[in-house]
Amino acid sequence: MTTTGVKRQKQMEKEGALKYPLFAVNEADSKHLFDNRYGTGQSTIDGITRATNILWAGKRVIVCGYGWCGRGVALRARGLGSHVIVTEVDAIRALEAVMDGYEVMPLLDAAKVGDIFITLTGDTSVIDKAHFELLKDGAILANSGHFDVEINISALEALTTAKRRVRPFVDEYTLADGRHLFLLGEGRLINLAAAEGHPASVMDMSFANHALCSEYMVKMGKTLVPKVYSVPKEIDWEIGRLKLLSMGITIDTLTAEQKKYLESWKSGT
Ligand SMILES: NC(=O)c1ccc[n+]([C@@H]2O[C@H](COP(=O)([O-])OP(=O)(O)OC[C@H]3O[C@@H](n4cnc5c(N)ncnc54)[C@H](O)[C@@H]3O)[C@@H](O)[C@H]2O)c1
Repeated sequence: MTTTGVKRQKQMEKEGALKYPLFAVNEADSKHLFDNRYGTGQSTIDGITRATNILWAGKRVIVCGYGWCGRGVALRARGLGSHVIVTEVDAIRALEAVMDGYEVMPLLDAAKVGDIFITLTGDTSVIDKAHFELLKDGAILANSGHFDVEINISALEALTTAKRRVRPFVDEYTLADGRHLFLLGEGRLINLAAAEGHPASVMDMSFANHALCSEYMVKMGKTLVPKVYSVPKEIDWEIGRLKLLSMGITIDTLTAEQKKYLESWKSGT
């Protein structure tokens, strides 16, 4: 399960609708810190580039949502020379974006200046009628978050006088005032629509969580009840260890003295 999946399964558990035990794989560090951040970061840029062949350098890229996916996309867009603006609804996440060096502002302000808009929120109608009315001629809209609901396509269609597919995965919407907006991949996850999703060498960590949690479930058998369980820390760490090993990277280990020191509260104070 990814971010939205976990949220929904937890709600099902709360409402008594969950019929079997589940593991919240997305919450494992070895999943969201890598798949969501570096996987979505790279494959979203890949999808938009394949669909449009735009030059990222010098563009104003608006990243809606500074979660694990959003921060990956922001990081990669900045690396390509874009001026990144983040929009958020969570004060802590917005503050992180500010201190990571991005501009943060309400989407209604960002709408007036953005060249490329990317939604990664898991939320609905993030880009809505009020934003479409402000967008610059030629603005590009893409979603890499949840389903096809983050960009309100029916509100966009209601403002549209003509629509045509200008190249695969790119629909041009002409609005009554003559502006053109470009919607990519019909508002569905652009990294899956126009590219190949995440590289295998980051999905391996997510799938290792699935495999090892399945094995754990078999071992635990009927002691598990219908509820959303956290991935056991030992499994999470083991995946990190194995991934490093597969990359030929070794790290240091704590000495007995260091272990003792880190666990004590009496020495060094
Ligand atoms: N494209 C992919 O391959 C891929 C991969 C992993 C996850 N996802 C999906 O991407 C979405 C985001 O995942 P995540 O792990 O980054 O989640 P997250 O919960 O870490 O981050 C989502 C962020 O969006 C913010 N947000 C919510 N509504 C907003 C709004 N109206 N305007 C601005 N910000 C808003 C939240 O405050 C939060 O900080 C989820 O739906 C997830 O399932 C997609």
